[in-house]
Amino acid sequence: MLPAPYPVFNVFQGKRIHIGLTGSIAAYKMPDFIRLMQESSFDAGCTLTRAGREFVTPLTLRALGVDPVYDQGCFDPVDTPFAHLAGRTTLDLFLIAPATANILAKAAAGLADDLLSTQILSCPGPVYFAPAMNPAMWNNSITRRNLSILESSGHKVIPPEQGSMACGESGTGRLAHVVRLYFHSLKAVSPQTMDGQKVLVTAGPTHEYFDLVRYWGNPSSGRMGLATALALWIRGARVHLVHGPMPTLVSFPGLELHPVTSAEEMYVRCRELWPDCRYGIFAAAVADFAPEKASQLKFKKTGQDFITLSLHRTRDILAELSRSKSGLQKVIGFAAETDELEENARKKLWDKDLDLIVANLVSLEATPFGSDDNQILLLDRHDRAQMWPRASKAEIAWRLVDWIAAL
Ligand SMILES: Cc1cc2nc3c(=O)[nH]c(=O)nc-3n(C[C@H](O)[C@H](O)[C@H](O)COP(=O)(O)O)c2cc1C
Repeated sequence: MLPAPYPVFNVFQGKRIHIGLTGSIAAYKMPDFIRLMQESSFDAGCTLTRAGREFVTPLTLRALGVDPVYDQGCFDPVDTPFAHLAGRTTLDLFLIAPATANILAKAAAGLADDLLSTQILSCPGPVYFAPAMNPAMWNNSITRRNLSILESSGHKVIPPEQGSMACGESGTGRLAHVVRLYFHSLKAVSPQTMDGQKVLVTAGPTHEYFDLVRYWGNPSSGRMGLATALALWIRGARVHLVHGPMPTLVSFPGLELHPVTSAEEMYVRCRELWPDCRYGIFAAAVADFAPEKASQLKFKKTGQDFITLSLHRTRDILAELSRSKSGLQKVIGFAAETDELEENARKKLWDKDLDLIVANLVSLEATPFGSDDNQILLLDRHDRAQMWPRASKAEIAWRLVDWIAAL
């Protein structure tokens, strides 16, 4: 299961991933990754190298439902004498993870001296490599040359990360975080309908401090905005995600995070980024009011039965940026209403000059805040109104991207 608040996109029924698992200590992370892909409706197969088998057993993979598991050489096939050509068959994604320095070198040289290297050589499409190795091996000029040969041959590399290694050293060489491997894999098999489009997305609550340690806020988890940002990124967009206080998020090349705290900070950041973006999707639950002034000290309760807070209107980020849009820019707003959903949403669409509005009803029985699923009403400027059935926020975000691409 992905750490919250990451959404699991399960719209990939029937897609096949085949994993080449090689002899790196990072192999212990792969069963978690495989479970994640299966939760997202992928079928998984695996080829283990001899060294890979030392780290993860074929039994572990078979028990997880991985099929086929090729754990022998070319000449001891499980179910076909042509396993060495398995890369040519109906795979949607061939991912080598963790990829040792050795498999990078063999693939770059076009060697085919075991089952996995032969499968790589026979694979017509790009193969994805997620390297993992000691920093000295990663920085070695021979490894760098092998990587550039692989990339110039059309293969893709999911770069390793910095940090402390199992061997006790620190530096670059850790296998990419499972969250990154997961989203890179989804992107690899998805239609790039938003290719290269720049999109600004806001997510989460804002916190308006009135003393050093207390704030006026709301229970938004940011999941809807995050799911939308990720769905856009998976479909090829370049995304700026301006988000209020949320659990620490993992960034990706092409998905830039801009953490802010208050409504004013969110406004300033959005205003800077907006002129360069084609679409603005405003899913954050921005405070409408903020305390006039934050005390630099913590309020004391002694001697006080009441305190009075004076609140002022914050800027309306959605309305201000929408009114400043140029001809090509499109603005999608989110609305949370407690009553008269369609009427209020339609009014907001026209008042704020939006291109699309996503409205959800907030009630005691069904609050979208913090929940994994949601039910929404979509309204556009052509008076089209669609109530979507209750679904996961990831699924709603996925369908929303189809609408946005067609705007
Ligand atoms: C405990 C241990 C950990 C290893 N971790 C790595 C690693 O993270 N990356 C790497 O490139 N090689 C690592 N190696 C070395 C490879 O296992 C070795 O180069 C092997 O030949 C790789 O074979 P393969 O690429 O066919 O799986 C490790 C070896 C041992 C004994």
